[in-house]
Amino acid sequence: MIVGAQWGDEGKGKIVDLLAQDSDLVCRYNGGPNAGHTIVADGQTYKLRHLPSGILWGKECVIGAGCVVDPGVFIEELDEMERRGLSTELVRLSGNAHVIMPWHLAIDRGSERRLGRLKIGTTRRGIGPTYADKAMRLGIRVQDLFDPKILRQKIEVALAEKNVWLERVYGAEPIELEELAEGHEGYAQRLRPFIADTSLLVDRALRDGRSVLFEGAHGTLLDLDHGTYPFVTSSSTLAGGAPAGIGIGPTRIDSVIGVAKAYVTRVGEGPFPTEIESDDQERVRELGAEFGTVTGRERRCGWLDLVALRYAARLNGITSLALTKLDVLSAFDELPVCTRYRLRDGTETDEFPPHQSDFHHCRPVYETLPGWREPLDRVGEAAALPGAARAYVEFVEGELDVPVTLVGTGAERERALAR
Ligand code: GDP
Ligand code: IMO
Ligand code: MG
Repeated sequence: MIVGAQWGDEGKGKIVDLLAQDSDLVCRYNGGPNAGHTIVADGQTYKLRHLPSGILWGKECVIGAGCVVDPGVFIEELDEMERRGLSTELVRLSGNAHVIMPWHLAIDRGSERRLGRLKIGTTRRGIGPTYADKAMRLGIRVQDLFDPKILRQKIEVALAEKNVWLERVYGAEPIELEELAEGHEGYAQRLRPFIADTSLLVDRALRDGRSVLFEGAHGTLLDLDHGTYPFVTSSSTLAGGAPAGIGIGPTRIDSVIGVAKAYVTRVGEGPFPTEIESDDQERVRELGAEFGTVTGRERRCGWLDLVALRYAARLNGITSLALTKLDVLSAFDELPVCTRYRLRDGTETDEFPPHQSDFHHCRPVYETLPGWREPLDRVGEAAALPGAARAYVEFVEGELDVPVTLVGTGAERERALAR
C-alpha cells in the first residue's frame, strides 16, 4: 500500500511506478481527477488523473468502488495512453464507482466562488459535490450508465433539484436533460469493456498469490476524517481507505509505504505551520518545480514537518517511508526541520493537535540541520549520498521510528535510491 503522507503531490506516482514493475495489479481506491500523478520515464512525462500508475508497465489497473469518475476525462486519458503506445486493455473499472456529473462541476465552481475568501481552493473537478450526493444516496454510479431508462430517470430526479440550486443559489445556467442523457449513453459504449467486479478480481488475485499494489491519491492531511478539515478532499485518503474503497478485508494489507517529500508542499487554502516565510519559499518552488499537476497553481512550500509526519505514520500504520525530492534541498546551507509545535499557551508538543484552533495557531519549533550543497543527480546508491544528506535522512528515521527505504534524487524513474 502506497500512501501520501503530507498534503498530496509527494511523488506517489513515481514510487508506484517503481514498485509496479514487480507487481501484478495496481489499484486506485479513492478520489478522482483531482489527483495528478506524474511519472517521468524514458524522457517522457505522463500525468495520470484516473489511471493507476501501473499503466506504464502494462499491469492490470483497477479503479475501485471508492473512486469517483469523470467519464469524459477518463476516456480522454485512455485515448491519450493508446496514442502514446501504451495498452489500456487491462484497465478495470468498478460499476459501483460514482460518476462526476456536469452539475457537480458547476456546483464545485459556484460554491468556491460564493465562499470567496473562505474558499477551500478545490481543484474544481466536482469532487466534493459528487461524494456528497453519494452520501445522500442521490448519486449516479458507473453501472447506471448501462441502463438508459434508469440513467434518464436518475438524471431527471437530480436535475429537478440541482437546476433550482444552480440558478437560485449560484446564478448559473441550468443543465438540459436531453443533451446530457444522450452524451452519457454514448460514454457507456466506450466504458463497457472496462467494467469488472473489482472486489472479486482483487480478492482472486490475492488468493492466487499475485502481488497487488494499492495507490493512494491525495495525502494524509487531506483525509476527510483526519485531515485539516474543512481544507481537505472528500474521500478517505488513508491506508485504511483502501480495503473499504476496493472491497477487501483490512487483513489483506501487509505493508504500508508512506511517501513524503524531504520538505512539504500544499495546494489550496488551509493552515500550514512550516510554510516558509522568507524568499526561500520561492527558491524551493522554482527548484522543485512546485506547480500543480491538475490546476497549474503554485504550490505553497514549507520545511519538513515531523509532527505532521509522525501523525501520518500513526494514521496509516506506515511501515516504511519513501523520502522524495531530497535533491531540491541541495541548494540550501541549512535545513530547518520542525520537530515540535509551540501552542498558544506556550507549551510544546510533538503530537499533532487534535483541536483545529491549536493547529491553526501553533508555531513550528525547528532544529537546524546542515545542508550538503552538492547536487545529487550523479549519486548512484544511497551509501554514496553526501554525509549531511545521509544525516538528514537518518534524523527523519530517528524522530519517526520508521525506516526510510527509498530516497528520491530526481524526477526520472531511475532517480530513486534504495536503502
Ligand atoms: P503525486 O501526486 O504524489 O504523484 O505527485 P505529483 O506528480 O503531483 O508531484 C510530484 C512532482 O515531483 C512530479 O513533478 C514528479 O515528477 C516530481 N518528483 C518525484 N520525485 C522526485 C524527486 O525525487 N526529485 C525531484 N526533483 N522531483 C521528483
Ligand atoms: P494528488 O493525488 C494536492 C487539494 C486541493 C484542495 C483540497 C480539496 O496529486 O496528490 P478537491 O478538488 O479534492 O475537493 O480539493 O484538496 N487536493 C490536492 N492537493 N494533490 C492532490 O492529489 C490533491 N487532491 C486534492 O488543492 O486544497
Ligand atoms: Mg499530484
